[in-house]
Amino acid sequence: PRTEFVSDLLSKMTLEEKIGQLNLPTSGDITTGAASSSNVAKNIEEGKVGGLFNIKSVQKIKEVQKIAVEKSRLKIPLLFGMDVIHGYETTFPIPLGLSSTWDMKLIERTAQIAAQEASADGINWTFSPMVDISRDPRWGRVSEGSGEDPFLGSQIAKAMVNGYQQNDLSKNNTILSCVKHFALYGAPEAGRDYNTVDMSRIKMYNDYFPPYKAAIDAGVGSVMASFNEIDGIPATGNKWLMTEVLRKQWGFKGFVVTDFTGIPEMIEHGMGDLQTVSALALNAGIEMDMVGEGFLTTLKKSVEEGKVTMEQIDNAARLILNAKYDLGLFHDPYKYCDEKRAKTEIFTAANRAEARAIAAQSLVLLKNNNQLLPLKKSGTIAVIGPLADAKENMAGTWSVATNMEKSISLIAGIKEVAGKNSNVLYAKGSNLDYDAAFEEKATMFGKTLHRDNRTSEELLAEALKIANQSDVIVAALGESAEMSGESSSRTNIEIPQAQKDLLQALLKTGKPVVLVLFTGRPLVLVEENETVPALLNTWFAGSEAGSAIADVLFGKENPSGKLTATFPRSVGQVPIYYNQKNTGRPLGNKEGKFEKFRSNYIDERNEPLYPFGFGLSYTTFNYSNLKISSDVINFKEKLNVTVDVTNTGNYDGKEVVQLYIRDLVGSVTRPVKELKGFQKINLKKGEKRTVTFEIGIEELKFYNSDLQFIAEPGSFDVFVGTNSSTVNKVSFKLIK
Ligand code: IFM
Repeated sequence: PRTEFVSDLLSKMTLEEKIGQLNLPTSGDITTGAASSSNVAKNIEEGKVGGLFNIKSVQKIKEVQKIAVEKSRLKIPLLFGMDVIHGYETTFPIPLGLSSTWDMKLIERTAQIAAQEASADGINWTFSPMVDISRDPRWGRVSEGSGEDPFLGSQIAKAMVNGYQQNDLSKNNTILSCVKHFALYGAPEAGRDYNTVDMSRIKMYNDYFPPYKAAIDAGVGSVMASFNEIDGIPATGNKWLMTEVLRKQWGFKGFVVTDFTGIPEMIEHGMGDLQTVSALALNAGIEMDMVGEGFLTTLKKSVEEGKVTMEQIDNAARLILNAKYDLGLFHDPYKYCDEKRAKTEIFTAANRAEARAIAAQSLVLLKNNNQLLPLKKSGTIAVIGPLADAKENMAGTWSVATNMEKSISLIAGIKEVAGKNSNVLYAKGSNLDYDAAFEEKATMFGKTLHRDNRTSEELLAEALKIANQSDVIVAALGESAEMSGESSSRTNIEIPQAQKDLLQALLKTGKPVVLVLFTGRPLVLVEENETVPALLNTWFAGSEAGSAIADVLFGKENPSGKLTATFPRSVGQVPIYYNQKNTGRPLGNKEGKFEKFRSNYIDERNEPLYPFGFGLSYTTFNYSNLKISSDVINFKEKLNVTVDVTNTGNYDGKEVVQLYIRDLVGSVTRPVKELKGFQKINLKKGEKRTVTFEIGIEELKFYNSDLQFIAEPGSFDVFVGTNSSTVNKVSFKLIK
């Protein structure tokens, strides 16, 4: 019936109306950086709009939908999109933080709750998940992805798509998902946003494509093109990418939307005028033009001049109408406009409680000397730092639906959890030290950052006064939310200097200091790692951040997050990632000592500060008895790898058990380690569990130089451990 319904509708549509379906303006309601067409309402009436994005509230959406279904000739309902990236009003940790939970059920659940809330407020389409692999923490949008690993990234992509769509778009609490940014957006040269990407195809297929493909395999309904070029052709105009890879090789059946003004931006890329680049995009396989209005204003002419065909326009319109059909909008255009739902299903106590529990699992304990953490709920606690009382910074980047006033700050969370027996004091200590550009950007996004007019000496004096009265200092330092995310690339990835100075002054008091770090990217923390006894990385943990962090600080929750992106020792090591190649001249010593004519630096060791997969717990886990069920398997067999994990500490805790392989000899060089399995287990203190992983041919495959996905016979190492660097090893052979 969908094919007949849509074909019938298409047969009634004029060329202009078909092109209209390909047009996606922004409402201008929530500013995302550029003004959209001022005639949105008139255009909707004339059938020139296929959907609208970033308009918030069920009432407003209902009003706009009404124009489409009552005033336009064919009454075609609109799609309503939004950047629902890590939750709606109930906000979860930024995606990099969420990925640190390594818990696919939890991650899927966040997307499900986000869909529940967004759909209750009129939204039927989200521009999420972002699955761009990134190995470059200079790039600000590393915060929006799941880190550096294709295997983990693929599982997360699948979980997110399932969470939003629940395999059933006919329900009123699921929404269409859009995987982005296709492709390679996370690999811009020098980590500068929107910059050139230049990558071999074999690297694309092995390391960067898998999460996009996993989203397609999970049935994602739409794809967003990336801003960058690929092989010299911007993704938005890249036919190889959009048609050959996406449609022919991967069988994608939904529609592709540009990222914002991706079409007109091709003029700046040097691909031609607006008509040329619009035709280029359609010919490449783009169906919907976000904001650019290149399709709207030039496609008719291009049809007349034979630069694009009617058939192509029909195909593009069909795919967008299909999505509307699947969402049930033709049946009921107001399906998502239930004011009662809007009042009862958004930012509920139940959703917030889940967000708090999930946020706690995203925190990564990086250091905890002498078991300074968890803190006692007694004595005097000095909470100091520009991020301690900063509601506006809790949700992190791309949280457009969040009401920041309702977010829980760290100080509020600590006061709540520490309880009556402790005396909690607060001082700001220093400014965040963001420069004017950040203030400008934040203001543009409708947010106010409150710069303190007191001098740094005054701020410090106030902080030292309470520090000296305290039994323990909690220093809340790091990046502001606006220092990561889109267009927030950094060349210096350390904590801003004013805050580093504050930290050193606090340490000089001789009081124990817990550094509660806020960040949207891996930072260089060498100095902090050397000087502070305890370091808890909290990312931006969402609307319930303060409560969740306090739950961990006071031991109600035992930290279990593990890094999904390597933390370098120096920005000069970037790009740095665990699944690197060995090279022909690997370093011969494990101590990281410099060796001439070997692949290393004269001024820094090769290892990162904190490796991929790293994260501590209040308890300790012992790994023993690593076994493999067979030394040899053929292409049809599977083998089991087992390991005993024992909770040897004093707390119940969760551990992410990680399995990596190394293909020792290949027709192309293979990484020194590749994640191929992980299990998050919950162990009571003293408890021991045998964890079993299965390895078969699928885990051993890779793309060879002909881009065939194959496994090759030969020897493999298998590593199991608590992070990518602390592992035990067994080996086996794959035979024909
Ligand atoms: O979805 C986003 C994208 O990630 C960045 N550019 C704007 C889009 C829509 O807001």
